[in-house]
Amino acid sequence: MLKGRHLIDPMDFSVEELDGIFELAGDIIADPVKYSDSMKGKLLATLFYEPSTRTRFSFEAAMLRLGGQVIGFSEPGSSSVSKGESVADTIKTVGCYADIAVMRHPKEGAPKVASLFSDIPVINAGDGGHQHPTQTLTDLLTIKTVKGKLENLTIGFCGDLKFGRTVHSLIKALSRYENIRVILISPEELKVPEYIRNEILIKNKIEFAEAERIEDVIGELDILYMTRVQKERFFNEDDYLRLKDRFILDSEKMELASESMMVLHPLPRVNEIAYEIDSDPRAMYFQQAKYGMYARMALMLKLLGVR
Ligand code: CP
Repeated sequence: MLKGRHLIDPMDFSVEELDGIFELAGDIIADPVKYSDSMKGKLLATLFYEPSTRTRFSFEAAMLRLGGQVIGFSEPGSSSVSKGESVADTIKTVGCYADIAVMRHPKEGAPKVASLFSDIPVINAGDGGHQHPTQTLTDLLTIKTVKGKLENLTIGFCGDLKFGRTVHSLIKALSRYENIRVILISPEELKVPEYIRNEILIKNKIEFAEAERIEDVIGELDILYMTRVQKERFFNEDDYLRLKDRFILDSEKMELASESMMVLHPLPRVNEIAYEIDSDPRAMYFQQAKYGMYARMALMLKLLGVR
């Protein structure tokens, strides 16, 4: 039962609860008109302390397409956060007006703090370099829809695996499915954090390998999950400039991949996928962004207990 719950970490929901969300998302995709009034009278608050295009717009589109309404801010300077109001007081206040809230914050753990003080469900829309559980719902729904399964897959994660919160969340979520093999493609400085390596990969006996070049491993992959180097999380601009173009997926590299390999990317893209790849049928990142809206529609229906 997901009614009234928060979503802060990708492991907050069981595999069975995720299946329920994917099943509902599939039903919405098949017949969206059936759901067009289901959130009538419901209000979503979007609290974005950091920039966003996909996450905020897809949540807002999801609520509006379900017949509900949206309030919120897209940068904290336009709210009383700029006067020093705490996350706890902000969410308590928002709970007086809205039925459900989604929060993105540069500080790791801020949405968790909000959930502890909240009377309404809180959804983590990305906290610093930590987690991004609704991107994970998006990624899993995309993989399940296109591949028809979430087991027996080899997934390559490429780019900024240190700060890339979508990578951390997806590795965590995939660790619960059978026969998942992970290949980590990153420079030394941008490797996955120790807790992902030790607490998720090693502890759950997930087979994993590391590589320094896409072309060395792309032929083994069912999914290539590209990520941008997260400029906003670097302390030193020189390091960012040195690392930002280390991995660029282009047509030459795609020739080494299987015909059925999917290319995913949470977006935004900077330079890491050449534009020439967009017309390749294996490039699924814009479909992925669309699945994100359906995943969030299903998530909000479940958290509000709307049938
Ligand atoms: N994937 C993602 O989180 O994109 P935005 O930063 O545009 O929301």
